[in-house]
Amino acid sequence: MPDGAPRLVEVEPATTEPTHPAAPWWQGAVIYQIYPRSFADSDGDGIGDLRGIVQHLDHVVDLGVDAIWLSPIYPSPLHDFGYDISDYTDVAPEFGTLADLDALVTAAHGRGLRVLLDLVPCHTAIDHPWFVEARAARDATRRDWYIWADPAPGGGPPNNWIAAFGGSSWTLDPATGQYYLHSFYPEQPDLNWRNPAVAEAIHDVMRFWLDRGIDGFRVDAIAHAIKDDRLRDNPPAAFGRSVFGIDSSGHERLWNVERPEVHDVIRGMRRVTDAYAGRVLIGEVYTPTEMLAGFLGHGRDDEFPLAFNFELLHTPWRADALRLAIERSEALTPATTNPTYALSNHDQVRHATRFGTDAVRLAALLLLTLRGTITLYAGEEIGQADAPDLPGPTRDRAGRDAQRTPMQWTPDGGFSTGQPWLPPTDPARRNVADQAADPGSVLSLYRRLISLRREVPALHHGEQRGLLDLPGDLVGWLRTTDRERVVAIGNVGCEAVTLARPELAGTEVLLSLDPARGARLGDGTLTIGPGDGIVVRLAE
Ligand code: BGC
Repeated sequence: MPDGAPRLVEVEPATTEPTHPAAPWWQGAVIYQIYPRSFADSDGDGIGDLRGIVQHLDHVVDLGVDAIWLSPIYPSPLHDFGYDISDYTDVAPEFGTLADLDALVTAAHGRGLRVLLDLVPCHTAIDHPWFVEARAARDATRRDWYIWADPAPGGGPPNNWIAAFGGSSWTLDPATGQYYLHSFYPEQPDLNWRNPAVAEAIHDVMRFWLDRGIDGFRVDAIAHAIKDDRLRDNPPAAFGRSVFGIDSSGHERLWNVERPEVHDVIRGMRRVTDAYAGRVLIGEVYTPTEMLAGFLGHGRDDEFPLAFNFELLHTPWRADALRLAIERSEALTPATTNPTYALSNHDQVRHATRFGTDAVRLAALLLLTLRGTITLYAGEEIGQADAPDLPGPTRDRAGRDAQRTPMQWTPDGGFSTGQPWLPPTDPARRNVADQAADPGSVLSLYRRLISLRREVPALHHGEQRGLLDLPGDLVGWLRTTDRERVVAIGNVGCEAVTLARPELAGTEVLLSLDPARGARLGDGTLTIGPGDGIVVRLAE
């Protein structure tokens, strides 16, 4: 390494043990979300599968993450691309078999990776045998596994609830003359969690997978689990309500989302996982940060151990907005856990598109130096953006194809030998093979950042309270343990900012986005240009 080049931490092989042995493995961990349909196709049918994931485990291990989370792998009629499940305890044929899943879990565990599945407890697919049975007659055995109601007195839906994807939450079942409830598409009837038999059935599903060695679940759309038992109409939204709480007809989602009884549902799930050592639940609550603490057990630690904080998915690339999002998350996370951040997922415009591809390096530095559990969405480690124009018919009715295009392994795609179910976006421009060979690539940066997070205790599990008081468009934080203090700073603005801080003099540069920076800072004056960022260890 030439004199004056930044000192970079070498990538170490993944280990199963957290750096801080007393903490649960998920604290400070990095979780890699795989959308199985789009990751790697082993059999040329154009659809990603479990064997494809096994074939590409090296990539995941080299990235250095602690766990993978697979979006749904179960049989599904694909009205919501797998979030409508017809069989909770099997693998969809296009993804493989239960034996393939076992092989994936064994291979992953053998390489120090944990495996999380997606649990979709609030609704089934319309062709799930439970629903087929329930809709057969008003007095069908499983009728009350779902939520049924008679038409309103003058006809029409029983109340004014609106589904998350638009339209009434109610669909008439002509054969029995009643409406059934669905919080999402009509093809996703809601399970009735007020029925203890439903709770028991889903708990059995959880045990089925936990017994097979699955390390936990990301729990889908949990805020929708329980609805008002009197099915009261939602009121018009009052001025000032958060957008999270308003449906597309301008009504507050008062009676159909986040009902207090949902906490009993979560406690029940938590009791199931607590019977197994080292398993985790990550709640997808989709609520403002101030409401999240309730789903994390308000410090009683009897609900979700982790729940996604989606602030950063909705925060613009602006210093004031980023600061506020982090400050709120820090202030509002109960001491029993840590924040759970993501910049991208299968439902949202990728952050390379939202923030711009020029921002992805600094975004990675900021994300991976934050206190908390970090979730990455496959493809972000090569800077993948949304597909700008997709030819052909839309696959996802809610318009999320652009963030679900296939993983780009080689300059010609490398995802499938057949016709991919969605075309890759720009493999010639960014792909894993080229970036793995280039120390200056986005992929190499992700590897270094994740490695640094594993190796530097302050970054892995250190404290972080609030933000550093920094000028201009600088954003940064201090991470501390009893033994070390590490600072991460980035410039999200358009102008260089010079920072003169005596405590920075002579400090060790752990990572710098500006390759011209040396292994130590000089006299404590630091100029950070637009898009530049730095991680330094302060002297003891
Ligand atoms: C999932 C979506 C899905 C919805 C309904 C969400 O939280 O992430 O992809 O469409 O739940 O299951």
